[in-house]
Amino acid sequence: MSDPRIIAIDGPSASGKSTTAHEVAATLGLVHLNSGLLYRAITWIALRDGWRSERDFEFGLYQLRLSLDPNPPEFELQIDGLNPGDWLQAPEVNVRVSAVSARGDVRRRVTDSLRASTENMSVVLDGRDIGTVVFPEATLKIYLTASADVRARRRLAERESGLTEHCVSDEIVRLDERDRLDTTRRIAPLRRSPDAIDVDTSNLTRPEVVAKIVKLYREKVSAHG
Ligand code: CDP
Repeated sequence: MSDPRIIAIDGPSASGKSTTAHEVAATLGLVHLNSGLLYRAITWIALRDGWRSERDFEFGLYQLRLSLDPNPPEFELQIDGLNPGDWLQAPEVNVRVSAVSARGDVRRRVTDSLRASTENMSVVLDGRDIGTVVFPEATLKIYLTASADVRARRRLAERESGLTEHCVSDEIVRLDERDRLDTTRRIAPLRRSPDAIDVDTSNLTRPEVVAKIVKLYREKVSAHG
């Protein structure tokens, strides 16, 4: 069997990482793991159980059961035996997730879980620190971006919300705030790894983005054997 291969897709909020990563994995017969879901799941539990103090986080993280089972082309996430589903996209989670994921204890827990659940597997992971921290030796690193306007419109369309200029500008403010927190945090901030390839998706369709990444991956693999 060949060595496990990792495709790392990082980038700002709503740049299309997770849908792209899913389709790249399905095309290449790999499994997709969306690391943002783990941060969202911990945020959801922290909100549900009212974690505030250091002690709450310490004890809560110690007790927490996170499980990730491969069911190609996705991993199935369970937290404390539950599949949290749509709750993870709730507005309260969106507002809190960057603060929760800035914590060192939370990041350690998620990073350990990502590495342990993908051991010896070929996977596509998306997030903020996959190519810089979680898998610095990844086979291929992509930094996926899009203009703020395009990202806001895509996020609203996903939620089937209105696309008035007012909604779009409100969504840009929310995405900008999350990106500001994610790029300025002390531990594992969002940044482009020096060896990542930039893919700006503002003027590309989803199949074009997927085809581009699949091509880059095949070129890498045939160049390195
Ligand atoms: O889908 P979207 O781009 O809105 O975000 P996400 O990938 O679901 O990630 C939600 C939040 O989790 C981000 O805003 C980051 O605060 C955090 N995150 C992180 O810190 N590191 C990662 N590898 C993935 C997500």
